[in-house]
Amino acid sequence: MAVTLLEDLVHRIEHADNLDRVAKPIASKVGELVKPRPVRNFLSGTWLGHPLHPLLSDLPIGAWSMAALLDALDVEAADILVGAGIVAAVPTAAAGANDWSDTYGEETRLGLVHAASNSTALVLQIASLLARRRDERGLGKALSLAGVAAMFVGGYLGGHLTFVKAVDVNHTAWPTGPDSWTSVIAEADLADGKPTKVDAGGVSVLLYRHGNTIQALANTCSHMGGPLDEGSVSHDGSGDCVTCPWHGSTFRLNDGEVVRGPATIPQPRYETRVTNGHIEVRVRP
Ligand code: FES
Repeated sequence: MAVTLLEDLVHRIEHADNLDRVAKPIASKVGELVKPRPVRNFLSGTWLGHPLHPLLSDLPIGAWSMAALLDALDVEAADILVGAGIVAAVPTAAAGANDWSDTYGEETRLGLVHAASNSTALVLQIASLLARRRDERGLGKALSLAGVAAMFVGGYLGGHLTFVKAVDVNHTAWPTGPDSWTSVIAEADLADGKPTKVDAGGVSVLLYRHGNTIQALANTCSHMGGPLDEGSVSHDGSGDCVTCPWHGSTFRLNDGEVVRGPATIPQPRYETRVTNGHIEVRVRP
C-alpha cells in the first residue's frame, strides 16, 4: 500500500509539466552560479572522485533520525543532533542543487520536489531547535518528527533519482570494451584533430589523433552519458582535453582524468596501435 502510494506520487511528479515553470528558471540560475571551475569541481565532488551530495546527505539523515530516537527515549542530547543536522544540511543542499542543475525533464521535476521536501524538513528542524531553546520540548519533538517525515519523502525521491533515473551514477561502469586487440577503423580514415567515434566490440570509443599520437577513451561521458565525440578538444597545459557537450565535464585524453566537473569518475581509457593500416584498441590492463 505504502509502496503503491509512493510510486503514484513519483509518477505524478514526473508528469507534472506545470512544475517546469518553476524548476527550469531556478535550475538555470543555479547552473550559472556553479559555472566557475573551482565551484563546480568542489560541489560535484570531482576533487573526491565521488559525487559529494549523496555522501553529505547521510549526515542530516543520520543526525535527525537519531535525534528522533533520543526524543522517544526523552534524552536531551537529541538537541545537539538536531543542531548538527541543520549545520550539515546547508552544504548538502548546495551540492544537491549543483547536481540538480544538470538534469532535464522528469529528473528536474523530481529534483524540485526532492529539494522542497528536504527544505521543509530543514525549516521544521530549525523551528524545533528554537522551541527546544524556549524549553517547549513537546513542541520541539513534534516538529522534529514532522521534519523526519518530510526528510524521508525527500530521501525516497533522492533514491529514485539515483537508482531509477541514474542521476549521479557512473555511466561507464559497464561494459568496458575488448580485452584483446580489436580493429576499429582504417588509419587513413582517422582525421588529425577530429574527435571520432568508433565501435570496439559493442562499446563506443572516442579516438583522437594528434600527429603520430592516437588516444582513446570511452565515448560515453561518465557523468550522464553524453557523447564525447560531439564535444570540443582543447589544450590545458598538461595535454589535450575533450569537453563533453552536455554539461562541460572535461577529461584529459592521455589518461582520462577529470579536469573539470561535474564528472567525478575518470573516463575509461584504451591502448591503441596501428597494424596493417588499421587502428586497433583494447582495454588498458
Ligand atoms: S554528460 Fe554531463 S558532462 Fe557529460
